[in-house]
Amino acid sequence: MKQIVIEGGKILQGEIKISGAKNSAVALIPASLLSDEIVKIDNIPNISDIDALNEILEYLGATVKREGTLMTIDSKNIVNKEIPENISKKLRASYYFMSALLGKYKKVEMYFPGGCSIGARPIDQTLKTFKALGATVKEDGNKYTITADRLVGTTIQLDMPSVGATINTLLVAVKAEGTTILKNAAKEPEIVNVATFLNNMGANIKGAGTSKIVIEGVSKLGRCFTEVIPDRIEAGTYLIAGALIGQNLTIKNVIPEHIESLTLKLKEMGYKMDIGYDSITISMQDKIKPINVKTLGYPGFPTDLQQPLTTLLTQADGKSSLEETIYENRFQNVEYLNKMGANIEIKDRIIDIKGPIDLIGTTVKATDLRAGACLVLAGLKAEGTTVITDIEHVLRGYEDIIQKLLNVGAKIKIEEI
Ligand code: EPU
Repeated sequence: MKQIVIEGGKILQGEIKISGAKNSAVALIPASLLSDEIVKIDNIPNISDIDALNEILEYLGATVKREGTLMTIDSKNIVNKEIPENISKKLRASYYFMSALLGKYKKVEMYFPGGCSIGARPIDQTLKTFKALGATVKEDGNKYTITADRLVGTTIQLDMPSVGATINTLLVAVKAEGTTILKNAAKEPEIVNVATFLNNMGANIKGAGTSKIVIEGVSKLGRCFTEVIPDRIEAGTYLIAGALIGQNLTIKNVIPEHIESLTLKLKEMGYKMDIGYDSITISMQDKIKPINVKTLGYPGFPTDLQQPLTTLLTQADGKSSLEETIYENRFQNVEYLNKMGANIEIKDRIIDIKGPIDLIGTTVKATDLRAGACLVLAGLKAEGTTVITDIEHVLRGYEDIIQKLLNVGAKIKIEEI
């Protein structure tokens, strides 16, 4: 077991370079299976979720080579066999193998995926699209056997704009016969990254990034190269760190439009930022205004930044409120922020945060990935020492978090316990 120990109160100054987006990379890697030739993906982050996906690829017989951030995947010797539960449950994104294998071989056997425990995370929308395209889904407890004689394009309307179901639809429909029209699709930048990757392989996908995506099926996908987009959630997390305790902290290798929902909220709080082509510079401020925030699908305020933002709202002058509309159990960080001195009240799907308060270091637990990020931010700001346990969650999603923060002046380390 590992824990993070932070001596708070150190000013963050300098530059943090953002890595490739976790939620893109975890879809691009399973998508690579659809190609009959070698694919190369650059800007792959070095996080444990990627290791878990490689384990699945290698278990299926693919050859994976990693040189720095470049990953080369050769899937020509893949054997389409059942993916065991102990590896599929390591992460949510394992279910992208469900659609990639179904799309390529018209058969897949695997188990319900894992992922952070932040509320119910059903896969009904994904299964609905599989069925609409002609597949038969057999459920036996946690195990799914999905087969199709033919996959045939059709029009599908998602009940909610699910990121996972949108990507899964792309991965199945890309080789289906005829045209698939996906309505009420999610619009996240990660979806555009996946569609571009597939188009580079020879697919014919139009409209990714809007709520209507049209996929003309093709019979063969070939060799290609792509790059993972910068991680907008990692960028947002460090931008919030700069707002909390930065002095000209620059977040580099970011696509500012991807986190405009955050920068506009920071402006509303009174922050001034220097926003460049691929960088944002921010400094802490004495008095900041409280705000109201509601999480929504892209381009709305991302649920994945809701917990990190909560730490900053403890410093605002007055009452802020934050409504979580995507997940019903994404406030597990509140108990620990309150243990550090915050004044936050949970009212069903809304939290009220009264500030400003002085955060005091103590021992807290990272219950999930973004709760962990929220507590790292709190530890950077707090007086004294903060110990964060269960940090495996944090390491799943933030590449080199310790080194990146050390480089800008934080006093932070990982301890084995
Ligand atoms: N939903 C359903 N049925 C479905 C699919 C989704 O009811 O079949 C509901 C979910 O329960 C949830 C909402 O729809 O309430 C949104 O779920 P979505 O499918 O969009 O999320 P996801 O694909 O499971 C991805 C990210 C999450 C991120 C969400 C929302 C990956 C691997 N995960 O999850 O990232 O919160 O989109 O943007 O891409 C994280 O990085 O910390 C994280 C949890």
